[in-house]
Amino acid sequence: MQGKFSSNEEERFQVRKLEILDKSKGFIELLQQLTVCDSVSDKEFQQRFQELSSYGDDHLICVIEDDRSGKIVATGSVFIEKKFIRNCGKVGHIEDVVVDSCVRGMQLGKKIIGFLADHAHSIGCYKVILDCSVENRAFYEKCGFKPKEVQMVKYFT
Ligand SMILES: CC(C)(COP(=O)(O)OP(=O)(O)OC[C@H]1O[C@@H](n2cnc3c(N)ncnc32)[C@H](O)[C@@H]1OP(=O)(O)O)[C@@H](O)C(=O)NCCC(=O)NCCS
Repeated sequence: MQGKFSSNEEERFQVRKLEILDKSKGFIELLQQLTVCDSVSDKEFQQRFQELSSYGDDHLICVIEDDRSGKIVATGSVFIEKKFIRNCGKVGHIEDVVVDSCVRGMQLGKKIIGFLADHAHSIGCYKVILDCSVENRAFYEKCGFKPKEVQMVKYFT
């Protein structure tokens, strides 16, 4: 046993970077559990994938593939913002975190957040931040985050 995971579960649910073949493993359907996400054509997916890849370590999307079903069951992303303040510091922005409803409560969300936060830390960010609903506050607190100030938004569409 390591933490709350049995060694079987550790093997079954490993975090890795998004790969181009993940579209055929249910990646878009998983995002649809988070928010509005219309179908994305293979061409659109490829173009966006290449674009994001060109940012290198400054944009990371990670996934967990269920080793048993071959389906993508969890994902999240982190974008690295480069600043002038804080001695030209860097900040990680975590976005689009979702775990398949069939496997929630199995520490996969925590695993995703840990992976993204470790990435931001490893490339020198002084902090990592995210927005969330009131309902998810307790989850992020379990992941080591604390509330700070308020979230503001202006939608264009
Ligand atoms: C929020 C979400 C990502 C959590 O994923 P998960 O894999 O079920 O969470 P975990 O199993 O890793 O939970 C880690 C800890 O947080 C707790 N937790 C998880 N969700 C919680 C909630 N909504 N309220 C209170 N505690 C919660 C768990 O009980 C667990 O506690 P423990 O470590 O003491 O056992 C998942 O419920 C989800 O995808 N929800 C829909 C999409 C969404 O809201 N995404 C977030 C956008 S900001």
